Amino acid sequence: MLKLLVTGGAGFIGGNFIHYMLNKYKDSQIICVDALTYAGNMETLEAVLENPSFKFIKADISDREIIYKVFEEEKPNIIVNFAAESHVDRSIESPSVFLQTNVMGTQVLLDACRKYGIDRYHQVSTDEVYGDLPLDRPDLFFTEDTPIHTSSPYSASKAAADLLVQAYHRTFKLPVTISRCSNNYGPYHFPEKLIPLMIANALNNKHLPVYGKGENVRDWLYVEDHCSAIDLIIHKGRIGEVYNIGGHNERTNLEVVKTIIRELGKNEGLIKFVKDRAGHDLRYAIDPTKIHNELGWLPQTTFDEGIKKTIQWYLDNRKWWENIINEEYKNYYEKMYGRR
Ligand code: NAD
Ligand code: TYD
Repeated sequence: MLKLLVTGGAGFIGGNFIHYMLNKYKDSQIICVDALTYAGNMETLEAVLENPSFKFIKADISDREIIYKVFEEEKPNIIVNFAAESHVDRSIESPSVFLQTNVMGTQVLLDACRKYGIDRYHQVSTDEVYGDLPLDRPDLFFTEDTPIHTSSPYSASKAAADLLVQAYHRTFKLPVTISRCSNNYGPYHFPEKLIPLMIANALNNKHLPVYGKGENVRDWLYVEDHCSAIDLIIHKGRIGEVYNIGGHNERTNLEVVKTIIRELGKNEGLIKFVKDRAGHDLRYAIDPTKIHNELGWLPQTTFDEGIKKTIQWYLDNRKWWENIINEEYKNYYEKMYGRR
């Protein structure tokens, strides 16, 4: 039986993954471990809290004692590690917590896997470990062989974690896999990230802060397509391998913002070009050939469909994101954008 430990499941992608898996595997057991940082939200898990196949444990993945206890008591066979500090801008302001959670937390999980024994440890990584691609070379893509070359404290901490996972495979024969996905979007996305921030601001008729000239390119993947890829990797992926995940949906930031404005019937006058992000990566673009050829994965949702679905979700679930825009969020917004 599938006894899955999902870390970071009260966050954006982990939450979507829990809904996806509980829906697909009716006889599975899912244990979610989440520290409930500013990014964790129990409302994301509301629909499954009463489900007998689901259990929530509030814990920090870098707390060795508690994590060992979870492994001892719950005996999970597959671990999927989503738990992380995930926002590049925050990593520029305060890098330490990124190292603590993303690197030390990963190490604790790997040690627990060695101590208690598991069938698979899956590390949810990011294409940001490859650094960036130039804007004038649309022929270039990240493959699994692209060298690690990080730009932000966030991506450096994710790369460090990936290397640790690979070291535990080589040295201790731990059965691991790693996936490196491009930018996700969809329901339950915290409104500090580009797409939900622009939707929330546009709905509130606030400025839409575009960094630099808005020409940076991201490769957008609807979150459910990321979940289906991870599901395939944990069941059929080869041990010790890295799989890139992306669906060739490249857009400049300005294109994304203008699409949101158009869909919401707002005015482009809301756009405000603001000071660029330090070290801002120019372009991300994934070559997903390996996961397609080996596992048959293909994304199901185009950007045009996905952005419509996402906007509709934010319109239908105002309470979810309006609850997030609280004092703490307002302080963050003022600090990041107040004098930008
Ligand atoms: P998120 O910030 O929305 O959620 C992170 C979750 O982890 C939150 O619920 C938070 O409470 C929890 N968490 C943070 N520190 C913790 C700790 N010390 N112990 C336990 N839980 C902790 O992030 P996300 O966007 O859902 O990203 C999930 C994973 O996917 C991350 O590892 C991220 O690097 C990776 N990823 C994200 C994207 C993207 O576009 N969002 C793309 C590729 C990869
Ligand atoms: P983000 O959602 O933070 O993801 P990442 O930096 O991990 O790709 O940002 C996506 C892109 O949008 C990135 O190029 C930075 C840009 N951006 C803005 O222009 N304005 C904003 O307010 C935010 C949050 C991001």
